[in-house]
Amino acid sequence: MPAVARLFLATAILLTQTCRPQPATAEDVTLTLADGLDTSAGAQIEHLVSSWSQPIRDSPGRTATARFRELPGGSDTMRAALAAQAQDARDDPAECNDVVMLDVVWTAEFAESGYITPLDAADFDLTRYLPQALATGRYKGRQWAIPFRTDVGLLYYRKDLLDKLGRPVPRSWAELADTARAVKEQLGVGGYVGQHALYEGFTVNAMEALGRAHPLLSPDGRGVRLDPEAAARAFDWPVRGLAEGWIPASAVDAGEEAAIAMFKSGEVAFMRNWPYAQRRLESARADLPGEYGVAPLPGASVLGGWNLAVSSCSRHPEEARALIRHLTAKPQQEHVRDKAGFAPSLTELYRSPNLNQYTAAIRPGLSNSITRPVTPRYADLTRAVQQRLRPALTTGEVVNAMRLLHTDLLAIVAKGP
Ligand code: GLC
Repeated sequence: MPAVARLFLATAILLTQTCRPQPATAEDVTLTLADGLDTSAGAQIEHLVSSWSQPIRDSPGRTATARFRELPGGSDTMRAALAAQAQDARDDPAECNDVVMLDVVWTAEFAESGYITPLDAADFDLTRYLPQALATGRYKGRQWAIPFRTDVGLLYYRKDLLDKLGRPVPRSWAELADTARAVKEQLGVGGYVGQHALYEGFTVNAMEALGRAHPLLSPDGRGVRLDPEAAARAFDWPVRGLAEGWIPASAVDAGEEAAIAMFKSGEVAFMRNWPYAQRRLESARADLPGEYGVAPLPGASVLGGWNLAVSSCSRHPEEARALIRHLTAKPQQEHVRDKAGFAPSLTELYRSPNLNQYTAAIRPGLSNSITRPVTPRYADLTRAVQQRLRPALTTGEVVNAMRLLHTDLLAIVAKGP
């Protein structure tokens, strides 16, 4: 081979070698998993995340681990933070959250915005998850997120007070209103607290009061279904409760934690809350003012819960998927149930004949749950529900509030997906 040709070949080989993509780094990989405040008993979620490690495939000696990035605030604040971080990560990879914990209502928005990447069903055994929970991670025919924990509303009640009145655990909102009024009138104790503070919990509680009969949108999120007059009648009981005093005035500002505090201190006989509240009550059992029980809500529960998704910005999607598989595997899900005090996402953990009262109460809530509207404009929708309906709790102008909400919903739907 002539010298010039040899030189040309050598340069070409050298160039190919230099330009061939090299492994990102020879170091270990630390994934970031972003979640909201770890409200589990004893920061168990952080523990589960930071105790994970796994060898990196085809990279002898390299290991993937994960760090827990805890975002402050309630779910509305957390959504805004995650969206901002996803946008920042487009310019600054250091901002990337490889794995994100998403409220079940965010899938559509995060998928449409390109913040998360669709999952290959073959990477997960999708048959193991609660079907209702799994469906919340689906959007436009693809699976975007895997259920980590589920949530249904439960009714916590003071057994001793019901015994005194000789009344059963209420089975409808009307019966709950009736018993809560009797508790107030006959025993001088407040009747009920839910989540009526200005945040996503308000939307959940409002939709539960409206019930399955009064949906806001059509199932595909493209049409408005709200009937203002009929919906106003269904929303009447919390308004009356506040006006008549069997819902204490302070309950208007209660979120999940404040509701637990009110129930614990004996201010109310009934509390609507998520399953995690049971762990809180259990650990304070000795100080509680009386015996308590847990039952399904007296109406359909809104389906809550949190799903894990892989961010589009992640440079380690394979490890990110492995972390999700790990966190949703049976031993970790048992830990979620037994140590963290959350409702797990695997069907088999609800099958045992020896379920305790609390896990047994979750089951009917799941099968009878209402799904919040599936739309990438969910943030606009929930803001409208909160801003229109919450003031009506105290002004009593519910029909007008529902009409205004109806107009808002039409505008939201008109913007398209
Ligand atoms: C719980 C639910 C979630 C819901 C939120 C409202 O965390 O799991 O779905 O949006 O409460 O505050």
